[in-house]
Amino acid sequence: MSETVRKPVLYSAVQPSGTLTIGNYIGALRNFVKLEKDYDCLFCMADLHALTVRQEPAALRRRTAELAALYIACGLDPEKNIIYAQSHVPMHAELAWILNCFTYMGELSRMTQFKDKSAKHADNINAGLFTYPVLMAADILLYQTDVVPVGADQKQHLEICRDIAERFNSVYGDVFKIPEPYIAKSAAARIMALNDPGSKMSKSGEPDSFISMADTPDDVRRKLRRAVTDSDGEIRVDPENKPGVTNLITICAAMSGKTAEEVCAELQGKGYGALKDATTEAVVSVLSPIQAEQKRILADKQYINDVLKNGSERASALAFRTLRKVYKKVGLYQL
Ligand code: TYM
Repeated sequence: MSETVRKPVLYSAVQPSGTLTIGNYIGALRNFVKLEKDYDCLFCMADLHALTVRQEPAALRRRTAELAALYIACGLDPEKNIIYAQSHVPMHAELAWILNCFTYMGELSRMTQFKDKSAKHADNINAGLFTYPVLMAADILLYQTDVVPVGADQKQHLEICRDIAERFNSVYGDVFKIPEPYIAKSAAARIMALNDPGSKMSKSGEPDSFISMADTPDDVRRKLRRAVTDSDGEIRVDPENKPGVTNLITICAAMSGKTAEEVCAELQGKGYGALKDATTEAVVSVLSPIQAEQKRILADKQYINDVLKNGSERASALAFRTLRKVYKKVGLYQL
């Protein structure tokens, strides 16, 4: 990406707060790769966001490098795209402060992720968890972003980002581009937990609830065998009455490049064992080459550092322009 932005801008980020799941891959990363060629893209490791939940420092550092390698292993070219760590571009935290002053307590307290995470981490309901969506808005707005590919769970955060940007623009003129979310229309936007298809698959869930991007073929097979289905035996998409089976069909389709209808037609009458086998095969065929490539990339620490240094320099140049404009508009004294 040249520093003179020409194509529309795509921005997305993932928290290096655990080993990514196939939910992250299907809902987000897979779309990054699909959209990459039509946009000037920034892909961020949201390490500051990860701090809203206690992290083991060494693990956070390791996972940040692993996530950078995963982005590249999934097919994102670090020459064309900007791949960087959020903490390496201080303008994110600086803009977040300004935007905090344009965000209301009431709207933040309505965020479902805040409510969920406060319930899960009742001993650590910190202010960062509360203002999480403001930092996310700063991430997106710093780069005059056109489109943000995310899973369905981030829809509300995208809405508040647009509200904050519109509020700011209504006072100071057109400072921020208003970003559009890019969320799959299908069930692929929300991959559900294998052991509880009523809740989202999450990297912080119980071990058997998710398939991680680092799982071996045996792990994948075992977890899918145990996945919750139902007792009617019919393979069809019906999220309301058959959430477990629908989730497996969605995973199988996304990982094999087929449509859900094709998966159902091929497996008709063969039973859930066949659906689980086909899903295992599809998942392993995507994960194995990515894992091998990620391992190869991670072995070269200098390369990862070069990518991140280059990424943060290019991101900083873009972010600085927006932040300077914001500082001027709000009346901060200029030297
Ligand atoms: P995070 O790290 O929780 O998830 C990364 C991406 O994966 C998507 N995702 C899912 N999609 C489908 N099914 C699931 N079960 C599933 N679980 C997660 C998420 O929607 C997300 O797209 N707040 C963001 C990180 C972030 C960000 C940003 C994203 C920080 N700044 C700016 C976009 C733009 C998050 O927590 O992602």
